[in-house]
Amino acid sequence: MDQPGHRLTGSDSIRRMGLIERYMDRLPFEPGDPIVSLNEGSTPLIAAPRLSERVGAEVFLKFEGLNPTGSFKDRGMTCAVSAAVRDGADAVICASTGNTAASLAAYAARAGIRGIVLVPDGKIAAGKLAQALMQGAEVVALRGNFDEALRLVREITQVHPIALVNSVNDFRIAGQKCAAFEVMEDLDGRLDALCIPVGNAGNITAYWKGFQELHAEDPSVSLPAMHGFQARGANPLVRGELVAEPETIASAIRIGAPARWEEAMAAMTGSGGTVADCTDEEILDAYRFLAREEGVFCEPSSATSVAGLLKHGVGDAERVVCVLTGHGLKDPQTALDESPPVVPCEPDLKALEKILVG
Ligand code: F0G
Repeated sequence: MDQPGHRLTGSDSIRRMGLIERYMDRLPFEPGDPIVSLNEGSTPLIAAPRLSERVGAEVFLKFEGLNPTGSFKDRGMTCAVSAAVRDGADAVICASTGNTAASLAAYAARAGIRGIVLVPDGKIAAGKLAQALMQGAEVVALRGNFDEALRLVREITQVHPIALVNSVNDFRIAGQKCAAFEVMEDLDGRLDALCIPVGNAGNITAYWKGFQELHAEDPSVSLPAMHGFQARGANPLVRGELVAEPETIASAIRIGAPARWEEAMAAMTGSGGTVADCTDEEILDAYRFLAREEGVFCEPSSATSVAGLLKHGVGDAERVVCVLTGHGLKDPQTALDESPPVVPCEPDLKALEKILVG
């Protein structure tokens, strides 16, 4: 529109743009394609001064909890659902530990198509379940874990015309790789290490792809070491074998058979990074530290990137990004369990003074 006052320039227009629109030249879409978007992406890279002090490096937090449904999944979902609509799909399905389900529900609603999610019964955080249900997805609570749910959705999409939008779908990876572009734009192409939680191993695969693409085009852009961190009870990549019954408080990464296993390992070894794990206690320590010391409230699984950094370090890296994959409000119960109780007070000044000043 050419009306005066309706023109946006510079960063203002970027913030209002969805991911596909912003990075169309780097994605498998063409102008004129149907785009299903909620203005995802363009999340802030937040300096973390207290964390930086603790680890002796300059640390930033890529806060993916500020995407439209509160997790990084929206980046891949805008691409996967747009592509499904382009292909004429009228239903999409995924297996999920919760965030992919919430994201699918939102983008399917936006597209006006059927959304179906398979989640492990009783093992997904309340906020994610509320989102999926509220946004009209058909939620199937599987009496089994994520790995079994993924096997089932792979099977059913072989025999029924339903589009599979788990990160085995390459459009998901294409969308998620754009986070690497944003990080490098914000840091002027200089980054030594990336710390990231690893579950089904799609996101680490995507970041590595994004970093490699940029570096191939311009070798002066860093290729950071990729440090992938898992929860101790769900650590197949650390053990080098499948975990039949994964268990962790970090329910988003409670996965024993990651779909992108080889690509994730190639990212970590090929970049000079590491794969390591953290106990639930270490994850919860990092979760509380981020909320109380940095003012950034992420979900427990997301704090695994910081728990890994604190526990294992990142060699002599000077500049580090920790990816915080999801918002803390996703999982209100864990937040309440990990916090002190509320202080009851009668409605009068004396009572309040007694509490606040003794
Ligand atoms: N952090 C959060 C908050 C997640 O929800 C996930 C994955 C990950 C990290 C790990 O990313 O799977 O690409 O290695 N959640 C998926 C889901 C499995 O169903 O929402 P990954």
